[in-house]
Parts: sequence; C-alpha cells; structure tokens
Amino acid sequence: MTNSLRPTQPFDKPLLATLNGVQQKRPPIWIMRQAGRYLPEYREVRSHSKNFIEFCYSPDLATEVTLQPIRRFGFDAAILFSDILVIPDALGQPVLFVENEGPRLPPLIVGNNFSELHSDLDLSRLNPVFETIGRVKEALPKETTFLGFCGAPWTVASYMIAGKGSPEQAPIRLLSYQNPIFLERLIDRLVVSSIQYLCRQIEAGVDALQIFESFAGALTSDGIEKWSVIPIKRMIEGVRAVHPAAKFIVFGRGSGINHLKYATLTGADVVAIDWATDPNWAARVLQPLKPVQGNLDPLAVVAGGDQLDRKTDMIIETFSNGPHIFNLGHGIVPETPLSHVEQLVKRVRG
Ligand code: CP3
Repeated sequence: MTNSLRPTQPFDKPLLATLNGVQQKRPPIWIMRQAGRYLPEYREVRSHSKNFIEFCYSPDLATEVTLQPIRRFGFDAAILFSDILVIPDALGQPVLFVENEGPRLPPLIVGNNFSELHSDLDLSRLNPVFETIGRVKEALPKETTFLGFCGAPWTVASYMIAGKGSPEQAPIRLLSYQNPIFLERLIDRLVVSSIQYLCRQIEAGVDALQIFESFAGALTSDGIEKWSVIPIKRMIEGVRAVHPAAKFIVFGRGSGINHLKYATLTGADVVAIDWATDPNWAARVLQPLKPVQGNLDPLAVVAGGDQLDRKTDMIIETFSNGPHIFNLGHGIVPETPLSHVEQLVKRVRG
C-alpha cells in the first residue's frame, strides 16, 4: 500500500470524509464534467489542441484544465482530466474525437481473437496521465479531494464494439446474445487493464476513484449482474488486492432500482445516482447502506432561477439524514451559464 492512501488527516478533506461514511454539516460538492466546455477558460486551452485524445495526454494542458473548476468554484473534489476511452487507445484501438460527433474507433472485429489489440495495456502510452496526476496533486488545496476514474468494462466495450456512440447500445446488446463468449473475453481484458490503470492512478496520487457505468441503462435486469455488477466487483477487488484502502464511487447511470445492486454487490463505498432516480427512494433504500452521490438534473442548472434553488434544497433536504455528496445526475452540459453554477455552489454551501 502506498502512503497516498493513508493521508495523515483524511478528514481535512470533507469529500473524502463523506466517502468514508462521515456525514458533513453541508454536503460536499463536485460536478461531473466540471472541467469542460461550459468554462471559457477550458475552451481557450482546448482551442490550441486539435486532437482531444492528445489533449488528454498533455500533462501541461490536462493539469491546467483539471485545476480550472477548482480555482473558479472551489469544488470539494477535482477530477482528473482524461477520458474513459484512453483504455481502448492504450490497448491498441486508436481513438479519434470528431468535432460535434464524438468518439470514433475502428470497431473490433468479432471472432478475430483480438489480434488487432496489444496483449497488454500499453502503460507507457498512459504515462502522461500519471504525470498529470502528480502535478495536480502538488497544486491542489489541502482540503480538495482528488478523484481518478475509469469507465466500467461494459461501457468501454460498447464503444470498442460499435466504434462510436450508438443509440441504446444496440451493437453490444446484440453481441451479448449472439456471441457471449467473445464479449466475456473482452470484458475480462478490460477488467485486467482497468485494475492496472487504477492502481497506477492511486500510486500517482489520487485520493479515490469513480467508476463510470454510463450505459447501465442498456442492460436487462438479468444481464446487469453478469455484464456490469460482477466485472465492477472484480475491478474493485483487484485494486484492493494491491491497495486495500482504495475508495470507490460507482455510477450506474440509468440503472433504476438496480442502483441497489451497485450499492450492495460491488464493494462500492459510495453509490452515485442519475437524475431520473427518485431521491426519496434513494434516501430510504440506498443511503442506509452507503453514502449517496447525486442527483440534480443538469438541465435544471441550465434553466437556473428559483427552480434551481428549490430543486437544490429538495435534494439536500432529502439526503440530510446521512452522508451525501452533492453532484448532478450526469455531466454538466456546455450551454450551462456560469452564473447558474455559482448560484448552485452558493446554495449548497448554505
Ligand atoms: O471533468 C470531468 O468530468 C473529467 C473529465 C472527463 C471527460 N470525460 C472529459 C471529456 C470524464 C470523467 C469523462 C468520462 C467519459 N467520457 C464518459 C463517462 C461519463 C459520461 O458522460 O457518461 C464517457 C461516456 C466518455 C466518452 C466521451 N468523451 C464522449 C461520448 C465524448 C463526446 C461527447 C461530448 O461531450 O462531446 C467525450 C469527449 C469529452 N470528454 C469532452 C470532455 C470535456 C468534450 C470534448 C471536447 O472538449 O471537445
């Protein structure tokens, strides 16, 4: 175990305290995609870099944009600036981001025995990410928790199979019925690679990790354990075999009542819920088991006004009987006015 996971005074960091189950007077706050296009200073840095994935591999730029939302809003957590698709990229499936369209990868050839992929994750490709972590850690205020992350295998595999975002993840869902053995082997590879990647993030200096299962909502209730919950559990166990104190937030977006499976079966420390999940249900069913993160609708922040205050108050009140990390129920959108984010942070801080 490295010292980075044994901070001398962990509770200097309110968000890390909440992750450890210690309720705070006001919930700590961070925002998914907080380093992103709604920030003019992000757009400025981004404009110098044509290629998004190379931007992720530029420690100078990635460090700068990780810190931007902390400087502007003083969030309780910084999240590493990178992307879930650096894993396929470092496995030899090159990732390109097409302006206004999203990611593009050469789709994996099913039944090809993965011959287009490296047998192991190319960690040297990811070295700039670990360098970014070291630099951010040096620069962060001592009260700010530093989050690393990766995508869950099902979500990452969905991009590897389709070669792009796909409506309702039809290609991977079809594959799960037509060639489950191939998909199992792909998921196994992603579990192993993600464990290596997350261990290196911890060794480089992050305080805790979030696993993004963005396409949990594209799983049937009998498929969710096999394709999502168990692979995530194996990832968490694999990381903890090396770093027993590793802390995890698990976000199964769109999983409805199956959020309960993420809370009980994965080993997560915190269960993150999306904006469509009923906070009253989550406070009653999930929060007695695990601290909850979430779940304001990102579009409520775009809209602003009294409604934003009312919804923010409602979420804080609903989760006030236990540990809660305030967040949106998915990433902040580029159209969000900065003044509305300021309003939100002020309201949460009380
Ligand atoms: O601020 C942060 O949250 C940290 C950085 C971060 C990014 N992506 C930066 C990014 C994180 C944690 C992610 C995770 C990610 N990436 C997910 C899981 C979370 C989710 O949104 O469900 C997924 C599915 C991806 C894949 C991805 N990356 C897509 C589909 C896109 C294109 C869509 C879009 O918003 O343009 C990206 C690009 C991306 N990743 C951007 C950012 C800030 C925008 C690209 C740009 O600046 O040009």
